[in-house]
Amino acid sequence: MSRTPLPYNSKILELFRNPKNLGKMKDATVTAVAGNPLCGDMIIFYLKINDKDVIEKASFESYGCAANIATSSIVTEMIKRTKLEDAWKISWKRVIEAVGGVPRIKFHCGILAVGALKRAIRTYYKNKDASPDWLPKELTFEEKQALEEEELAEVLSKRMKDEVEE
Ligand code: FES
Repeated sequence: MSRTPLPYNSKILELFRNPKNLGKMKDATVTAVAGNPLCGDMIIFYLKINDKDVIEKASFESYGCAANIATSSIVTEMIKRTKLEDAWKISWKRVIEAVGGVPRIKFHCGILAVGALKRAIRTYYKNKDASPDWLPKELTFEEKQALEEEELAEVLSKRMKDEVEE
């Protein structure tokens, strides 16, 4: 049985084949993971932040699909040399626009990328024991979605394990 390939645009395919800022960062100030390795959709963001709260470098590792790699890659480009407050404002819709659009069923891949970025920013301030005025206490849509995916993956993996053991 053959599957119809998803209609990715050329920008996504280019970023998927030649992603920018791919790889671990040894001197990262903060890292954040979103997704779940059990289902294969997982992303790690690395940020190097200076003492003025500006992102000097950003990189990522992705164990997701082409859309996830492309959106993560573009996020790392969008936030370079950006103040954390401005990086925080980047929404998943802006990211999807920046890659020229993705098929609807792939929206969650971009949402996961932004969820990981927001988690990294939150973790940075948590580690500093600081809470700037612009950082909401409530989780954003993207962070909630990342959490939901992780919970769902956990439920599925538990169910599969139970079935195997039965
Ligand atoms: S990251 Fe889950 S399908 Fe793209």
